[in-house]
Amino acid sequence: MPLNLEALLAEYRPIQHDLFAEYVNPQLVKVLRTIGYDKTYVRAEGPFLYDQAGLDYLDFLSGYGVFNMGRNHPKIRSALKSAIDAELPNMIQMDAPLLAGILAKELLAKVGGRVNTVFFTNSGTEANEGALKFARKATGRPRILFFDHAFHGLSTGSLAVNGNTEFRKDFGDLLPGCMSIPMGCLDTLRKELAKNDVAALILEPVQGKGVYIADAAYYKEAEALCRNAGTLLIVDEVQSGMGRTGKWFAHQHFGITPDIVTVAKALSGGFIPVGAICYTKDIYSKVFRSMEECVVHSNTFGRNALAMVAGLASLKVIEDEGLIENAAVMGKKIVDGVNAMKPRFEMLREARGLGLMIAIEFGEPKSISLKAGWKLIHAVNHGLFGQMVVVPLMRDHRILTQVAGHHVDIVKLLPPLIINASHADRFLSAFEQVMTACHRFPGAAWSVGKDLAMAAAKASTKNSKLPSPPPHHLPEL
Ligand SMILES: Cc1ncc(COP(=O)(O)O)c(C=O)c1O
Repeated sequence: MPLNLEALLAEYRPIQHDLFAEYVNPQLVKVLRTIGYDKTYVRAEGPFLYDQAGLDYLDFLSGYGVFNMGRNHPKIRSALKSAIDAELPNMIQMDAPLLAGILAKELLAKVGGRVNTVFFTNSGTEANEGALKFARKATGRPRILFFDHAFHGLSTGSLAVNGNTEFRKDFGDLLPGCMSIPMGCLDTLRKELAKNDVAALILEPVQGKGVYIADAAYYKEAEALCRNAGTLLIVDEVQSGMGRTGKWFAHQHFGITPDIVTVAKALSGGFIPVGAICYTKDIYSKVFRSMEECVVHSNTFGRNALAMVAGLASLKVIEDEGLIENAAVMGKKIVDGVNAMKPRFEMLREARGLGLMIAIEFGEPKSISLKAGWKLIHAVNHGLFGQMVVVPLMRDHRILTQVAGHHVDIVKLLPPLIINASHADRFLSAFEQVMTACHRFPGAAWSVGKDLAMAAAKASTKNSKLPSPPPHHLPEL
């Protein structure tokens, strides 16, 4: 008898969160329950998730940037169904898979610049791991430079170039020779490159944590300095790529031509894990030097047929549906709409971003009563204010958002690129109501902060062996 998926889901749905807490990750379930994200979704389509009552939830999280084309896009689904029905000869391994060749060609045409070879992976972190390996072998040098606040994944190599100490703490020594430099500081970069031992500088053109972007001039100059020093430039487009910022890839805003570009997340339309290292023939020839070394870097699932089909269908949907142009227009509408509220809300510092990769940053107010609330919240937990925005957006307006990292007063938006003006307006109107409530102290909005802090304290005393994650930290990957 085939698996009766529908019946299985119906049977276990009532205990979804308990089951996950029991067998997968109880700490995450505590966080979800604390911030009101412990929903039971039963269906997803386009920019919406739906619960059992049929209520729609506007998804401005997009699975951390996976669903650029919206959820369950019918054209990607249909391509995948046809691939399954075709009974393709998949993962023969001692073979040159046709679909991998086609996707490599199509993807490289979108990335452009100097890259002309692709290695397929199963995730973003695996793409970055490979990029670091390639850079070290191709240059014969040991060191890697990365930016403050950088996020390139959480396997040990990628973690070694993570610019947030919270993620690295207690995991021991990682890849040697990795060094964090301040984003935008050419002097530090120059000084380090002068040592002639740097294999690569790895950067996100738009940082996921906090949505920080360096000056356009910095990227150009950094590229020139790296090239002069024989250092490779790795650009991590895992989150910022695939149309998210209003160009196929974010580095294209800055006119730079990296030696390696890593891609993942939305490349599969959210269906099948996939990633890619796009790099130059020159690097290829230094890594895969001979027939003996033809699989010196390799994996089992990397070029699997379903991932390749999902990739091809995703590229086509982005192009056919004008999603890149839409990301630019909708991103501007949201950023302008939020910034227009600044004169009315003193804690609203700015909205910024590129396309639909958006940060909304808050800052300390001037008026005495609000200042008291701000100080109180920050004394309990730095970064809690972001959750005071995220929680009511979900609770009162059914909109998913996230805090943008540790110890920052930033809420991040990553809507699918298919949103239209009515979705953007739903967000803007909800955000305005949340801001109005936050600017009344004392008031209901501030008790959210208090409740979150108390819930965290309670959770950590209940189980002193496993300290509860701070409530501001909805993990953002
Ligand atoms: C810029 C960036 N690089 C790498 C990664 C890691 O990707 P994955 O979670 O697929 O390993 C992420 C994940 O959020 C990311 O945002």
